[in-house]
Amino acid sequence: MSHDVRTLVLLVIVALVAAVSAAVAIGSGRRGGRAEVVPLARGATLLSASVWVLLVFGASVRVNGAGLACPDWPRCFGLLVPAIDWPVFLEFGHRVYAGGESIAFVALGFLVLRRADLRARLAPWFAAAAAALGLQIVLGGLTVLHLLAEWTVASHLVCGNLFSALIAVIALELWEAASPSERVEVPGARALAPALAGLVLAQVALGGLVASSGAGLACSTWPGCNADGWFPTLSGLVGLQVLHRLVAYGVVTLALVAAAIGRGRGRFGRAAFAVAALALAQMALGVANVLLDLPVEVTLLHTGGAAALVLATTAMNHATFRAPIATEAVKSDLVTA
Ligand code: HEM
Repeated sequence: MSHDVRTLVLLVIVALVAAVSAAVAIGSGRRGGRAEVVPLARGATLLSASVWVLLVFGASVRVNGAGLACPDWPRCFGLLVPAIDWPVFLEFGHRVYAGGESIAFVALGFLVLRRADLRARLAPWFAAAAAALGLQIVLGGLTVLHLLAEWTVASHLVCGNLFSALIAVIALELWEAASPSERVEVPGARALAPALAGLVLAQVALGGLVASSGAGLACSTWPGCNADGWFPTLSGLVGLQVLHRLVAYGVVTLALVAAAIGRGRGRFGRAAFAVAALALAQMALGVANVLLDLPVEVTLLHTGGAAALVLATTAMNHATFRAPIATEAVKSDLVTA
């Protein structure tokens, strides 16, 4: 199968996985409660799933070497709609898809924020997501104008994941507003959950640097690095990959601790289990990337895995820190609904 067809097949599979995950998330969303908020929660969940697809789509632009297929920005070859070949399809398609996501985000914001009962709780999250989206659009443009400089590629990846995390928070808050739940306090969660989220985001930044600097093949063996021991240096391209591996071991260790302390403890426990499973899968994909010389499929799955890990750590933090909505007034609403 050619490189192009493999990318296309993988993108279709990624879109199907996102659609099924969104359907499962929507199906398992608590029912009852304030029925009129449920469609908004569903819409936000779909938006969150499609942002995840967008992140993998973005990576497919990079792995296919299509990052400069449109040499200018915001137009492409000075045109609003350029002639389409495979690289332009990826690069320009990524821009069009991102444009569609931006419109969907604005529409969701309008529908949610016009409701006085949701505004106070959701407005700060929409403001943060709007700021991340604005920055992401600028970074996307800079990525093209600075000819794929490492810092623009890495910060575009981090900012995209931050936007994705904020949309996930909005979806989770809307499900909570639709049908409040009790929060279970888990000892240690208030330290572990933010530590994991921060470490995963730092790892996404490092991964972006590894990918854009060509450090992906600087160590071509695992667990050692080119027969020079496990951690030969922290400088240069080899050092960048070694650091990426070190942080991965830190993420996996913390994720396993979180899963152990969260066992059987409600939403935190389920999110912690997902974080641990995804961290282990992500490790395996990272190792496969190195041992198999960065095949397209593995690289795209590795990006998708990182984005899923960001979503799972977001859910874990939401389970830990969300303000309880279950006031007596809301509870009595629920009983009468
Ligand atoms: C928590 C675990 C990990 C996370 C969250 C993570 C995340 C990432 C991300 C976000 C990228 C950039 C992808 C892109 O630009 O599209 C990346 C690239 C990369 N990662 Fe990881 N990673 C993890 C573990 C590992 C491990 C354990 C290894 C190797 C032993 C590894 C090897 C690589 C390589 C080689 C690349 C470059 C791929 C390329 O050049 O296209 N990763 N990682």
